[in-house]
Amino acid sequence: MITTQQRDKLVAKALEVRELAYAPYSQFHVGAALLAEDGEVFAGCNVENCSYGLTICAERSAACGAIAHGKNRWLAIAIASRGAVTPCGACRLFLVEFGADLEVILVDCERKKSLEVLKLSDLLPRHFTPERLRKT
Ligand code: THU
Repeated sequence: MITTQQRDKLVAKALEVRELAYAPYSQFHVGAALLAEDGEVFAGCNVENCSYGLTICAERSAACGAIAHGKNRWLAIAIASRGAVTPCGACRLFLVEFGADLEVILVDCERKKSLEVLKLSDLLPRHFTPERLRKT
């Protein structure tokens, strides 16, 4: 469990980075802020492309930033969007690679507050895990 202070900070960061989203095709702007175990926060926004399939979601953008800084143990992620959407299937699996206990905070950018807090494991039950690749 993270503290209320940590949660508020994550929500604020997700809302802030959402403003930087590059989403000229969908106009759907998303911001994500990921809290690493050591307290550091990594932010990411969605970045679209004229070749639509190349688009990267805010969640994966934040996750890649954390990894590139050597942080792959995470406590929570706040995701800010219109309507406080849940992460897409690809992002769920991408995040679960690093732990299913991740707290997922859904933030409504219009009301500027979190609407729901979930566990990643609830969003992706019976997921494929890296352990499955190991020989028995
Ligand atoms: N998107 C995200 O960044 N995260 C989500 O959780 C849902 C969707 C982005 C991808 C695309 O740029 C736009 O939202 C519309 O799908």
